[in-house]
Amino acid sequence: MDKFAIRGGNRLHGTISVSGSKNSSLPILAATLLTRERCVLHRVPDLTDVRYMLDILRYLGADVEFSQGSVVVEARKVVGETPYDLVRRMRASVCVLGPLLARCGRAKVSLPGGCVIGDRPIDLHLRGLEALGSRIALSKGYVIAEASGLVGARMSLQGPHGSTVLGTDNVMMAACLARGTTIVENAASEPEVADLARFLCSMGAKVRRAGGSRLEIEGVDELHGAEHTVISDRIEAGTFAVAAAITRSELVLEEAPIEHMRSTLSALQDAGVFVEAAEGRLRVRATDPLHPLQLRTGTYPGFPTDMQAQFCALAATIPGRSRIEDDIFPNRFMHISELKRMGAHADLLANVAVIDGVDRLSGAPVMASDLRASAALVLAGLQAENTTTISRVYHIDRGYERIDAKLRAVGADIERLPK
Ligand code: EPU
Repeated sequence: MDKFAIRGGNRLHGTISVSGSKNSSLPILAATLLTRERCVLHRVPDLTDVRYMLDILRYLGADVEFSQGSVVVEARKVVGETPYDLVRRMRASVCVLGPLLARCGRAKVSLPGGCVIGDRPIDLHLRGLEALGSRIALSKGYVIAEASGLVGARMSLQGPHGSTVLGTDNVMMAACLARGTTIVENAASEPEVADLARFLCSMGAKVRRAGGSRLEIEGVDELHGAEHTVISDRIEAGTFAVAAAITRSELVLEEAPIEHMRSTLSALQDAGVFVEAAEGRLRVRATDPLHPLQLRTGTYPGFPTDMQAQFCALAATIPGRSRIEDDIFPNRFMHISELKRMGAHADLLANVAVIDGVDRLSGAPVMASDLRASAALVLAGLQAENTTTISRVYHIDRGYERIDAKLRAVGADIERLPK
């Protein structure tokens, strides 16, 4: 298991190119199962999670090639079953459920299991697929969904914390091959869901967003192969924007999906960070003093839960009291105890982090617990005095393409120590 050693305190300067989106790529890869024809995807980031998804597609019978950011998938024949050993590695593998059900009439997918960011049920996915006429059974850790022909339906995907991203994806993919029209109220409206819808439309599906959170899907008999370029990763871009802020530096982000980053950028601006967007490039510059933050996560276009940990790290370096609340994943605060090991003054009150910033964090050995928590520790390490070593960085490799190399190229002192 690799570690990172970060000697903090360097100012960053230069340009970072943003990669394709992880959370777009994963469901779009799953959607290639909906056709026997060849699909070609570009700007797919080389991440562990992407490689897991490619393994799942291969297991299911697809021919898969991945080279220089492009994936070619041809799923002439597929089997409808994914075993626990593959699914347990990544929760997002649950998004093969909808495509397999639509293509094979039966899907047996291992339940994704526990997750360090909290309880992550899939009841809304199952409710949506049942509404389309499938029978669902849970047996020995597997979801078994069967349908002798899916039928369009009207449904709501409203859950206790808003809609569901992958649940919307699953229902949308299944509904593309259902008979008749499906109307999904309270569908997730994250840019990654819209990217999947665009890919499905290029395969011949009829998906349209009718007003804010309503999706209308008119079923078709079959889908054909298609070529698609994945959108840029708004969370990776946001993480690098925070890297500029936390080191009080200036970075330019190329291919940043500025339109999708409004809430992240306005949180930075509220803190006093200078943000300028022009021609797909984002310039982020921070100098002291910055102002404490008051943030609350929400579904898109609200402030993303996937940026919460990184902003906790930033808040830990801004004198004054910040308050950061996560309403989407109330237990997603594993980074707080690690940030405290680095000298942060922070307390957790239920799903609210109350953080009293200090001038300088101090380097310490810390442990990555999940993807975004690890990103927060990297950011904290960039600002801290002395050396921070982060173990279990495989978590960060799941969702950030060569983060160490990208940061090193703009002046960070970060080294990967293989173990
Ligand atoms: N929920 C339910 N029932 C369900 C599904 C979800 O109650 O059937 C609840 C969840 O417990 C949570 C809320 O609804 O409180 C939102 O969860 P959602 O289903 O939207 O999350 P997801 O689709 O499993 C995706 C991203 C996550 C991101 C969330 C929220 C992918 C592969 N994953 O997960 O990304 O945090 O949406 O935006 O797209 C990450 O990239 O680090 C990551 C965790």
